[in-house]
Amino acid sequence: MTDGKKLMSIAISQMEKAYAPYSHYHVGAALLAEDGTIFTGCNVENASYGAAICAERTAFVKAVSEGARHFTAIAIAGGMNGVITEAATPCGICRQVMSEFCGKDFIILLALPDGKYEEHTLGELFPLAFNL
Ligand code: THU
Repeated sequence: MTDGKKLMSIAISQMEKAYAPYSHYHVGAALLAEDGTIFTGCNVENASYGAAICAERTAFVKAVSEGARHFTAIAIAGGMNGVITEAATPCGICRQVMSEFCGKDFIILLALPDGKYEEHTLGELFPLAFNL
């Protein structure tokens, strides 16, 4: 499997693509599919603030629309004006979207300053997930 460091470096470089003229908070994501394909995402904001789409969901929608359904891990990097000062944790809607396609063992890597990152699982960040 692709190692976490590589996945995280893709997420970090993806922060440059963020369209965040309102919040100035830039987020990049790199989603690893089971077959090794990596799908990228960034946040895409809108003058109608509620229409903003998070980096994680951009990556998931790109992946699913290309036929991918099984995922191993996602790396997420975010920070004000593109500077990582602490972990950008996925919002509730993104956790719900992750839980649609991923199990409890899905790995979530969160960027920290100085090239470090922390590792979590979806089960840890989204316990008692709602599912039909
Ligand atoms: N954002 C993400 O892209 N991912 C998250 O998990 C949290 C928030 C974006 C949405 C918005 O463009 C900006 O960060 C500030 O909330």
